Order: sequence, then structure tokens, then C-alpha cells
Amino acid sequence: MALPPGFLDELRARTPLQAVIGRRVRLTKSGRNWKGCCPFHGEKTPSFYVYDDHFHCFGCGVHGDAVSFVMQSQGASFPEAVNQLAAEAGLDVPKPTPQAAEAERRRLDLHGVLEAAAAAYRRRLFLPEGARALAYLRGRGLTEETIATFGLGWSGEGRGALAAELAREEVPQAMLLAAGLMRPGDGDRPAYDLFFNRVMFPIRDRQGRTISFGGRILGDGQPKYVNGPETDVFSKRRTLFALDRAREGARAGAAVTVVEGYMDVIALHQAGFTGAVAPLGTALTEEQLALLWRLSPMPTLCFDGDGAGARAAARTVELALPHLTPGQSLRLATLPAGEDPDSLVRRNGPAGFQAVLDSARPIGEALFDLMHEGVNDLSPESRAAFRTRLLEAAGRIADKGLGSEYRSLLMDRFYASRPRTPRRGEAPTSRTIRPGSLPRPIPRPATAAAERARQLVAILLRHPRLLHDVEEAFGSLALPDWLGRLRAAILHWGSATEHLDSEGLTTHLHAIGLAAEAAQALSAVPQPLTGCAAPDAMPAEAEAGWWHFFGLMNPVRLEEEVAAAMADFARHADSAVERRLIALCAARNALRQGEMESGA
Ligand code: UTP
Ligand code: MN
Repeated sequence: MALPPGFLDELRARTPLQAVIGRRVRLTKSGRNWKGCCPFHGEKTPSFYVYDDHFHCFGCGVHGDAVSFVMQSQGASFPEAVNQLAAEAGLDVPKPTPQAAEAERRRLDLHGVLEAAAAAYRRRLFLPEGARALAYLRGRGLTEETIATFGLGWSGEGRGALAAELAREEVPQAMLLAAGLMRPGDGDRPAYDLFFNRVMFPIRDRQGRTISFGGRILGDGQPKYVNGPETDVFSKRRTLFALDRAREGARAGAAVTVVEGYMDVIALHQAGFTGAVAPLGTALTEEQLALLWRLSPMPTLCFDGDGAGARAAARTVELALPHLTPGQSLRLATLPAGEDPDSLVRRNGPAGFQAVLDSARPIGEALFDLMHEGVNDLSPESRAAFRTRLLEAAGRIADKGLGSEYRSLLMDRFYASRPRTPRRGEAPTSRTIRPGSLPRPIPRPATAAAERARQLVAILLRHPRLLHDVEEAFGSLALPDWLGRLRAAILHWGSATEHLDSEGLTTHLHAIGLAAEAAQALSAVPQPLTGCAAPDAMPAEAEAGWWHFFGLMNPVRLEEEVAAAMADFARHADSAVERRLIALCAARNALRQGEMESGA
């Protein structure tokens, strides 16, 4: 079965090995990897380990990748295993052809040519002609060891050097063209070397084979870096610089981190951040995200601290959203303005970059802020449009459970960022309010429960339209007698009345002899009434306030209401369901905030 170049690599990259094996073997987490009892020999204590791309049993020595696992565990043939895994990964298996077999051979040859070129560049760096390049690299703080580890080299001074050198090894020019080391000349002009007068950075695949190069000019000049073209062995969008090194780093426990430049990666590895990788001068792709997630469930992406960095972060988040799962997420970090990781560790040592990593935020938190950027128009229209965008973002997460968690997280933040009506004498400047702007728990336990119940009833007296949404929950509460009497009357009135307005309710309560109770419920004693009970509070504010007091009285039931509202919302997201969800989340958020602040 001769498959075209790269197909098996692609298949392996798209196949989560732990999931394939996990179907047959109970796996538990063991550090960065997984382990379980070997399915190929009887054992009671686990010695079967699953790594990101292979498995190994320390008991019986069995070893392999996803394809061989399927073959061995199911007795499948190679084509059967490939077909099965490809179907699961959503890949079409290309028809095997003689051309494909030929291409595979050529690919193997290309690896040889590229390695020969890398060796030539490495050698030249330490010849007299490479002295300036070596001095440049040392001047940038790289040690001999780092230079060797990354295989850095010198291209040679002028064009023709590489071709001449490799021609001696009888490498045909066609191979140099196919490897991306030479470019065909225009018209009758001869082909020419792509790299000359440059410091050479080999680009390696995940197994450490050289697949292309980046070449940097010495000092200033344009273009600063030249990268090899796409070839049979090199696809920019499927490659991450230093992925081979970062796999080892991640295995040893290093944080997997994406930065922008080759020099950043190299400086970080030298400073001990051995999980660092970079894309190849372009924005991160979905394929690169998949590669990252094979190394770590939660890689950190670093972005520049300027507007361009924020835009790049937003684009990447956009790309990642559909692929997020509970075991596959991202953290986002922002670099100090004007710094890159290389400059940070050069100046402040590892601590300089560690601080950036420590400040990284989970994608869910970062998402809100990225989307909030530029929304400072407080009009209802722009807030509504913003809310729609947040909900759309959460909706793009394919994983259902995670999507609904994101929805609630984003709605919590959305509600918490609601512009506050300025109080008298207060400048109307504050753009965001803390979630705790809803009433805080009343701290006197003896009367607190009764007082909460009173506030909750007061909100309903002023905003009876809430009844439709809260009556069931309202009915479930334990209330002092006099409030219980009010509740019975309110519920009865609500079920018999078309227009749920405050005036009508007050009139009704007077008529049935509950005027004193109603007045007591709306009194400013013992505590002033919550702002949510003010006649001019917005309906959404009243609703959130009501749930807040409810949550104080019955936190478990509040959580159930939140869950039920989320399920409703997942089924049909109309505006009433959404409003209810927002109110519930805001209430829950404020409660949690209150708990945190009071140290509970
Ligand atoms: P930077 O200019 O930030 O790279 O570009 P750097 O690594 O910090 O470079 P130094 O420190 O000046 O040596 C980030 C990446 O963008 C790509 C390269 O991959 C580079 O590492 N790039 C940049 C290019 O491909 N071409 C260019 O001309 C510039
Ligand atoms: Mn730099």
C-alpha cells in the first residue's frame, strides 16, 4: 500500500493515540502520559505506557503507534487499520499508485539531501568564512551547546556555494530544486541558491528530520528571514519550529509554549523553557493547534502586547474555538509592549519570561476581553450586538457540555460588565461594574433569612411581571408567616390576572386586607430596599436581583435553576430564555463573588 508522501504522518497527527487505545485499555494519567494494563500480555499492575505518538510496554516490550495498535489489538491488516483510523479522523485514504510509491522514495531522498545541506551549513559556520555568523550568534547570547542543539549554520557567502558543495556528493540539481534549496531561474537563466549570506536555522519535523531552512541576514537588512518553499516534505502549516525538541521538553514536564520567532524559541530553550515552539512566520493554523494538543492539553500562546498582537490572538481564538474540549484547551499570554521572549530572557533571565507564563489566562477568560475590545459604546444596540457575538462564539464550540459552560461564563461576564446607572453626585464614568454590585449578603444571621425573604418579596411587589419566571421557585421557599400570607395572595393574583403590574397588585392586596404586610415588605426598615426593588429598576436587573436573594436562601436550588436554564437555552435560544439565563448566571456569579470576598 504505497501512500502518498506525508499521509501517514498526517493520519498519526490527526489520531489521538490515547483515545484509540483507551477504547480497549483502561488508562490512567501518569505524569504527562497514560498507563494501563498491557492488552498484549496478562498483567495486574500497569506497565503499558501511552505517549503522544507511541505506546510501549515495559513488561513484554510491545511497541508501536496508532496503526500498529489497531493491527495488533484487532488482528487488522495494515490497509484495514489505516482505513479505519482514516475514517475516524475524517481523512480520505488516497488510492495507492505507482506514482505514489515513486513519490515516497523521492521523499526519503529529499530528507537525505536536506540533511546533507544542514551538515554543510553547520560545517561552514566554524570555517573562517563563517566567523562573522558565529560571532553574530554568540553576540546574541547563544552558547556553543545551543548552536549545536539547533544545528545552526552558515550558508556561505555568495550564490553557488551549496550547489557546488553538494554536486561533489553527486546530488543532482533536480533534487536541490525539489528540496527547496534552489530556485529555478527565469526563462533561460540557470537555477540559483535560495540561501546565501545568511545564518541558517534548520526546520525539523516532529521526528527531528530536517525538512527546510530559515535563513537570517546578519544584522539589519531585508528580508530579515528567508524561508524555504513548500515541498514534498515541508508544509508550513503543518510544521512548528522546534517541535522535535519541545516534544522531549514536554515529556520532561516543560510547559508547551508558542512564541513568534525562531530566535525566541532558541533563547527560551537555552533559558530552560524547553517546551517552546513557533509557527513559521505566519499565524497559527488548525493543523499546528492539533500538533500542540498532542503534546499538552493546555499549551500557552504568547502574543505581542500591541494592537497587532491582540488581533492575532483574536484570530487564533476564533480558529481554536470549534476544537476546544474539556481535555484540549489553550492559555493566552501577553508580552510586555515592545518585548519579545528573546529580549525578555536576555534582560531579566528566566524570571522575565516566567512572569509572562504565570500571567497567562485560560482562553475562556481571554475570549471575553478580546471580544470586548473596542466595545465602549454603551448603547443598548451595541450591547445587544456584543451579546450576540459572545453567544455565537460559545456556539462555535462543538463540544456540547463545554459550549454551555462557555456560554454561562461569557454571560456572567457580560452581565457583570453591564453599565451602571450613576448614583446622584457620582460621575457617570465607570464602564464596568463588579459582579458584586448586586446586593451583598446581609451579615446578621439571626434576622438575615427573614430580611432576605422580605427583599425578595419586595422585588416581586414592584416587578410582578417576574412572576411567570419565578413563581415555582418562589413557591418552594420557606417564609415567615406574614410573608407567606403575602406570597399566597401574590401567587393567586398572578394566576388570575392578565396584566401583571405593580399598581394592580397593590390595589388587590389592599382590597383583601394585606395593606399592612405590603407596606412592611416595602419598608426601608430594617434594611434599605435593594436597588433591584426600585420601581425604575430595569426588568433584567430586577430579575437578577430576585435570583440573587433566592440564591442566598437556597443556593442548591439556584444551581439547579441555572442548569435547567442552560438546558432550555441549548434547546431553543429565544430572548426570554436567554434573559432568564443571564439573570440566573449574574445572580450566581454575584453570590460566588460574595463568598470569595467574605473568605468563605
Ligand atoms: P521576528 O522579526 O519577530 O523574528 O519575526 P525574531 O525571531 O524575533 O527575529 P530576530 O530576533 O530579529 O532575529 C518572527 C518570525 O517571523 C518570520 C520568522 O519565522 C521569524 O522568526 N519572519 C520574520 C519571516 O519569515 N521573514 C521575515 O522577514 C521576518
Ligand atoms: Mn527578536
